[in-house]
Amino acid sequence: MSFRVGTVELRGPDRKFTTVSGNLGGHRGGMAESDIAVRVRGLSRRYGALTAVHPIDLDIARGDFLAILGPSGCGKTTLLRMIGGFIAPSAGRIEVDGVDVTQRGPEMRPVNMVFQGYGLFPHMNVRQNLGYGLKLKKLDRVAIDDRVQKAIALVQLAGYEDQMPAHLSGGQQQRVALARALIMEPQVLLLDEPLAALDLKLRQTMQEELRRIHRTIGGTFVFVTHDQGEALALANRIAVMKDGRIEQLGTPEEIYFRPATHFVAGFIGEANLLRGVRRNGQVEAAAGIVCPAPGPDGAVALVARPESTRRLAPGEVAEVELSGVVEEVIFFGAHVRYVLALASGEKLRVQDSSGSTRAVIGERMRVGWNTSAQRVIAESAR
Ligand SMILES: Nc1ncnc2c1ncn2[C@@H]1O[C@H](COP(=O)(O)OP(=O)(O)OP(=O)(O)O)[C@@H](O)[C@H]1O
Ligand SMILES: [Mg+2]
Repeated sequence: MSFRVGTVELRGPDRKFTTVSGNLGGHRGGMAESDIAVRVRGLSRRYGALTAVHPIDLDIARGDFLAILGPSGCGKTTLLRMIGGFIAPSAGRIEVDGVDVTQRGPEMRPVNMVFQGYGLFPHMNVRQNLGYGLKLKKLDRVAIDDRVQKAIALVQLAGYEDQMPAHLSGGQQQRVALARALIMEPQVLLLDEPLAALDLKLRQTMQEELRRIHRTIGGTFVFVTHDQGEALALANRIAVMKDGRIEQLGTPEEIYFRPATHFVAGFIGEANLLRGVRRNGQVEAAAGIVCPAPGPDGAVALVARPESTRRLAPGEVAEVELSGVVEEVIFFGAHVRYVLALASGEKLRVQDSSGSTRAVIGERMRVGWNTSAQRVIAESAR
């Protein structure tokens, strides 16, 4: 099947997102007009007194796999459905491939959407479900059969052509829903929590499938999820949303290692947040930490991931050091997780993979990390 979408080979390594709304980390560099698949400007949606989506500016590069990530109710579905044409914006503009589609219905946009719950036609078998949209487009039978066969191969469902949806597993139904969207050769594929209903194992399998399909067809995928692990695993860009705004947009690495706000730091992965104050390029945290960290004076939070911390042997030094009393010891097989009570009253989660003798509850433990592994976030960036 040839999809009318940019191919992976055509893209340079320096594709960038630009966006100008909100408090954003990550790349903000320019992007050639022709590289932009979806351009959103000032897009917002109100429901009565509630603003579900505040004005958002967002450029999605051709060939990107963008995850829109955020907690329940933050406006993810509303944003995605506005791009798809299923919800009318209160204000703003949407362009696909440089064409303003804001006033067009969903069927008149070169995008396709996979809804949660699949939405398959229950009275049609797999082949009929896949061919339905093409039949409406009045393609001839031979062309339809050809594209159905290719779509079935793409989602690895050969042999299931004559099955009814009710006789398929959740993951198989999901793949039919995906194939049914892909067969229409959308320039942009919108996926709203498509894996949410699947159990963990199937979810992981489908994540791999989605990655493979994205690689194969090289299209632009926009994927909504509230699962940070899924976003990190799938996407090459993540937009973290909170209360109808994009808090940060960046690569998974940027979002994980350089969260721009408290919210992002807390929402993605596990993070220790320690209160502190910065004066003259030096941070003093309540937990007893003193370390250099350039930036404006004022209240800050010091962020360190449990896996960036290490237990210090007697005499061992680290750029950032502190100690606490072991409150909890959890064995994970490959590593041990400690929860320390700090002098400040805060807790510190420490991941120890050294295999050294396990500490016991009540023991004082020294821990440390490198300044390169921590992040200092100004309180004003909340
Ligand atoms: N038709 C509607 N009428 C009134 N309020 C709505 C409507 N649709 C959504 N909302 C509200 O808009 C906000 C954003 O909803 P949205 O469905 O976009 O969130 P979401 O991020 O997709 O959440 P979830 O992860 O639970 O799917 C919520 O507060 C929701 O209650
Ligand atoms: Mg939703």
